[in-house]
Amino acid sequence: MSSSKASASRADLDPARLPTHVAIIMDGNGRWATKRLLNRIQGHEKGSETVRTIVRTCRELGIPFLTLYAFSTENWQRPKIEVDALMALLKRFLVRERRELMDNNIRLQVIGQIDRLPPNVRKVLHQTMTLTQDNTALQLNLALSYGARTEIVEMVRTLAAKARNGLIDPDSITAEMVADHLYTCAIPDPELLIRTSGEMRISNFLLWQIAYAEIFVTPTLWPDFSKEEFLDILKDYQRRERRFGRV
Ligand code: FPP
Repeated sequence: MSSSKASASRADLDPARLPTHVAIIMDGNGRWATKRLLNRIQGHEKGSETVRTIVRTCRELGIPFLTLYAFSTENWQRPKIEVDALMALLKRFLVRERRELMDNNIRLQVIGQIDRLPPNVRKVLHQTMTLTQDNTALQLNLALSYGARTEIVEMVRTLAAKARNGLIDPDSITAEMVADHLYTCAIPDPELLIRTSGEMRISNFLLWQIAYAEIFVTPTLWPDFSKEEFLDILKDYQRRERRFGRV
């Protein structure tokens, strides 16, 4: 839980000790909407504005990797009307944000089972990823149709197939090789994991990659999550001593 009371500002942060990679479980859009007698889709729409705010903040601070849990493998089980609305929102967002991504040197990447997304969303995703592929200031990873167990199963299958074909010796498999066969192979592990809306769960997100992440859970619902609270959490993060099991 974030413990800061007074709001931090950018000036309170030590630029040399910012996390390289922040991962966020964006939760609470539905509750935000229900509290206001709105429909859940309106909550997701408001949540997409928070996405923009947090992406901008990471860019301003110089945090090079941001991974957002936008749609889980379990989310396919939501009512069709909500899934369709989320897909349509995602498509609109990807088109609308292209200019901002280009103007700010932000690269879009995706982790997850992209093949399960509707063809029209896949098309826009691929276009946006191609357009932004040479951008270098911030990599925005959207976790879409993402589930960590599926990611791990796919990694095991790939390594097992390589072993069967004599390409690797099973005894020589290392943690680095495992990491190299996950969706996140090209990016460092997140040092900071944030979850909004107060649930104390990981929900099948980046299970391997968060082994040493600092975890912050805030009761704030995602649509209400602000730049100020994000800065507060970063300030708290800088106060924590990361020991990796050492003394
Ligand atoms: C969790 O809230 C949120 C989601 C399942 C989807 C996240 C999507 C967005 C933030 C908006 C679109 C994203 C992008 C990148 C444009 P919930 O519906 O589980 O909320 P609840 O737990 O209160 O019901």
